[in-house]
Amino acid sequence: MNFLLIGFMGAGKTTIGRKLAKLLEYSFIDTDTEIEEDQGCSIADIFKYGGEECFRDMETRLLEKLKNVQNSVIATGGGIVLREQNQAMLQKIGKRVFLKVPQTELLQRLKNDRNRPLLNNKNPETVLKNMFAERSLLYEQAECIIETGQQSPKKIASDIIRKLCNED
Ligand code: S3P
Repeated sequence: MNFLLIGFMGAGKTTIGRKLAKLLEYSFIDTDTEIEEDQGCSIADIFKYGGEECFRDMETRLLEKLKNVQNSVIATGGGIVLREQNQAMLQKIGKRVFLKVPQTELLQRLKNDRNRPLLNNKNPETVLKNMFAERSLLYEQAECIIETGQQSPKKIASDIIRKLCNED
């Protein structure tokens, strides 16, 4: 069984994913890191020199490869749900866990972010609001939805385990 953490940038997928993997004694995989290591450059540079579509193709190719992993927690990039073919693959790979963070909290966390290329423009607030409108329903299709706010990553990770255990 694998668990895929999905949700907006800034939701804490990587940090919480690491904790979850540790608690479950699973492997941890981060799709952004896998792509950066494979390409030998940062996500920011991939967007800068190749454009968003090129990055999305890399995400799709990576998901193809992840079809065979076992007992892993996979933290995904926030836009991985945008392609329908990715959604189908995510569903096959494991249980999707949506880390749901209130929009105001995300705006707060990301307002000074300089590492995420999609927010690196004049109006990151508008970009985020549009993303919220475009993506919320896609994330809501997850098998498990965890409302997070100010709790510690460890607490959220144990909430995920509790919720998933109660469902089985
Ligand atoms: C993106 C989110 C980023 C990264 C890329 C695009 C998005 O990952 O994949 O900058 O479209 O939301 P995080 O969600 O880990 O920040």
